[in-house]
Amino acid sequence: MSKEQRQISKSDKDIESSGTKERFTRSGFILAAIGSSVGLGNMWKFPYITGLYGGAAFFLLFTICLLLIGLPVLIAEMTIGRGGRGSPATSLIRLSGQRIWGSFGVLSIAGAFFIMSFYAVVAGWTLHYAVISFGGAIREGVDVEATFNHFIGGFLPVLWQFVVMLVTGWIVIRGASGIEKFNKVLIPALVLILLFLMVRVLMLPGAGAGVEFFLRPDFSKLSNESVLVALGHAFFSLSLGMGTMMTYGAYVDREQSLGAATLAVGGGDLLYALLAGLIIFPTTFAYGIEPGQGPGLAFVALPAAFSAMPLGWLFGGLFFILLAIAALTSCVSLLEVPIAFAIDRWGWGRNKATVITSALCFLVGVPSAISVGGAVNGLHWGPRSFFDWTDFIASNIILPLGGLVVTIFVGYVWKNVAQQAGLTAGWFMLWLFILRFVAPILILLVFLHSSGLLSFG
Ligand code: TRP
Repeated sequence: MSKEQRQISKSDKDIESSGTKERFTRSGFILAAIGSSVGLGNMWKFPYITGLYGGAAFFLLFTICLLLIGLPVLIAEMTIGRGGRGSPATSLIRLSGQRIWGSFGVLSIAGAFFIMSFYAVVAGWTLHYAVISFGGAIREGVDVEATFNHFIGGFLPVLWQFVVMLVTGWIVIRGASGIEKFNKVLIPALVLILLFLMVRVLMLPGAGAGVEFFLRPDFSKLSNESVLVALGHAFFSLSLGMGTMMTYGAYVDREQSLGAATLAVGGGDLLYALLAGLIIFPTTFAYGIEPGQGPGLAFVALPAAFSAMPLGWLFGGLFFILLAIAALTSCVSLLEVPIAFAIDRWGWGRNKATVITSALCFLVGVPSAISVGGAVNGLHWGPRSFFDWTDFIASNIILPLGGLVVTIFVGYVWKNVAQQAGLTAGWFMLWLFILRFVAPILILLVFLHSSGLLSFG
């Protein structure tokens, strides 16, 4: 070991005393983790990619990826954070004693930055829909499809995107503790409205075909890309692959059970996806809305569902506000990653880092905002718009790569992991086995298959 390596490779005790002292309460941690994972990924992204990439068969693939790869990586990220007690790159360097692991920081920033750029656009749509719903624009007989196309075909989405960046930046500058407390009310309130809505739309004539589309798998509907997108979304939905959960892990008490937290986050996330699917697909079939239309799906189907219920404008408005706040808690956890890095690495003040990062992120997001609805033509390459490319590269390439780094780190590099994970012997063996032999190989296979280098017959 070189002198430098000896300095940075610290024993667990040293890390505990020199690392961050900030701690979550137990329920605070679980709420923060669920708050980060539940967001637009469940209500907006999951239904539209399910509609595009194979319906029930895709849902099944997603569930398998989430259970088999997502949950083990989630425990791994939290364990690394708790073991290293620093920002993601710092924790990886501390635990391995090798500086090369700091490059994970670069990957995570790229991921966070690109996701945030289009996430803010969609969060902006949510705010717009809250406003128009309270204004009475979502009612029986309104052409919800035309309303949406008109909206994203113009430049108003850029204004809303700007508002989202502004609010997120404002929260991040002041520290995020306030909004995390809000999760306590927000998450159950969303579930209540969703359950109510689900019961209502399941009673619509023709809803059964939607349930079938969502829950009865037809494997011939899967495309080459389906499994890559399913894997990417397992990471996206659980907020994995770019350090969010490592960052949160650094504030977790030694005594807290990571296994229990993982079950809560994974279960909560699946529950939201299930509810979203059981609302959106019955609605699309009842109203003749195209389920494979892409990113606009939720903003066409949900208004249609609300317009069919009594006091729909009120429930719709409340729902979109809650969804906007759920999106904001995720935005905060995304924007914090590059900001923390700039503060850590370049010694910037928090104000400077927040202003510059938010401004850059806004600019990168503008082409997304104006390409998805065709406000500006020409921002399309091949099958995808600028918006879709940003999402595709960040979610389906960068996040699984980040996940691969995590599995290799815990499976092969980190020597002391056994004492840190706090799992019982049997679970630990299973977990380590998955991280060593199952998850990395599956991730690689998925990459090879989707890039066309490998085909399964
Ligand atoms: N998981 C969030 C959602 O489903 C989005 C998100 C927040 C995220 N933080 C992340 C995605 C980190 C990937 C990585 O809406």
